[in-house]
Amino acid sequence: MVSRKVCRKLESADALLERIEFLGCDEVSRIYFPDEDPLNRVVTKGLKKGYIVNYSEWEEILLVGEGDFSFSLGLARALGDGTNMIATSLDRPDNLHRKYSNGIENVRELRALGCRVLHGIAVRWMSRHAFLQSKKFHKIVFNFPYANLRFPDECEKQIRLHRDLMKGFFSNARALLAEGGEVHVSHKLTYPYDEWHVEEIAEHNGLQLIKCVPFRISDYPGYSNKRGYGNDGLSDTSFPLGASGTFKFTAADQNSVRPRPTPTCFPVICRRRKISKREVV
Ligand SMILES: C[S@@+](CC[C@H](N)C(=O)[O-])C[C@H]1O[C@@H](n2cnc3c(N)ncnc32)[C@H](O)[C@@H]1O
Repeated sequence: MVSRKVCRKLESADALLERIEFLGCDEVSRIYFPDEDPLNRVVTKGLKKGYIVNYSEWEEILLVGEGDFSFSLGLARALGDGTNMIATSLDRPDNLHRKYSNGIENVRELRALGCRVLHGIAVRWMSRHAFLQSKKFHKIVFNFPYANLRFPDECEKQIRLHRDLMKGFFSNARALLAEGGEVHVSHKLTYPYDEWHVEEIAEHNGLQLIKCVPFRISDYPGYSNKRGYGNDGLSDTSFPLGASGTFKFTAADQNSVRPRPTPTCFPVICRRRKISKREVV
């Protein structure tokens, strides 16, 4: 039984972080803050520098499939240091310049903060990349993955392309994951995105869902989500996020030391609602 005194104590950042280090984030959340991520509490209450929702400065973080690198930059700024981060994009610098108005500038600032930036990194092959293959990461992050648009978004063939991308990503991410590390995928929860069945693909590739937390863009200052495809400036535009979540996975073979995951923390997920073209990424 946890005393009121202990609960009150956790309102201080250090006590809370100590508890997180001792028990792990999931356990602290289960015991003290069942409805929220305890690290989120540290950040939103402005309790400590060097943290941002879901991430902390002591972790080795790999970001993949970046658009204009605004997510990575926001993270590095919030953590106050990017030396433990590697931010990557599929786009090479010439494409980055062509597609995004802030891409090159964001990369410059990221590098100044100590973050290593790599271009031309395809998630399907990344675990064999000469530099990445020798590394292990505590967090591997892919925000709003999206395979090249070839067919209408609701089309079975297009969904298959997305699922294929996720398959390649998960199997490579698994190979690069440090013990106890997590793979984070932020993704829309509405139709047709729910048809990708990311949890199932992850499971087939050695990862199991810990939980899915609501994705709130306001948690990530500076982040501007990008479409990443299309001409005439379309790549540089943001798409409506609607109901989105961050799926958190860990290696399935750590099953024995982890409690059974909660499938999702969303009270209602709107499934199979036909959405307008404008809502489609
Ligand atoms: C909808 S955009 C999201 C961009 C960025 N993550 C964001 O949140 O703003 C989809 C991203 O997936 C990336 N992507 C697609 N296929 C990829 C692959 N095989 N390897 C790495 N990235 C890929 C694209 O380059 C693009 O940046």
